Amino acid sequence: MDRILEPELMVDKEQSEAYARADFAQVNQGFVDRFRSCFPKMTSGAMVDLGCGPGDIPVRFARALPSFRITAVDGSEPMIALAQQAVEEAAGRWPQPLRRFGPYLVRQISTMA
Ligand SMILES: C[S@@+](CC[C@H](N)C(=O)[O-])C[C@H]1O[C@@H](n2cnc3c(N)ncnc32)[C@H](O)[C@@H]1O
Repeated sequence: MDRILEPELMVDKEQSEAYARADFAQVNQGFVDRFRSCFPKMTSGAMVDLGCGPGDIPVRFARALPSFRITAVDGSEPMIALAQQAVEEAAGRWPQPLRRFGPYLVRQISTMA
């Protein structure tokens, strides 16, 4: 059977919104937890999330490691909008950990495609 590649960029608004509604909490938090257990001394620095989608991973990362400077990028405008919304909502709930993160995501997020 021939493999049919999906388009890399999720530029469709409905597709992006459906992705954002899906529950990836366990796998996304697992990523952050594994990072912390693999690199326990790495508690600050710069992190770039290439293809951040709706931003759940960088938000979780910022909550867990508030001293990191985080830049999240995606080539999809609808995903960028969802990620910005996620950061703003999260910053309302956890202003302290996300204080350094919000501006970086909102201002530096850019399209790559
Ligand atoms: C499957 S989603 C994963 C999103 C997020 N990393 C997560 O795990 O929830 C892949 C994301 O990468 C983005 N993407 C794929 N290829 C890209 C490229 N070449 N430049 C920018 N963004 C890209 C897509 O638009 C999409 O938002």
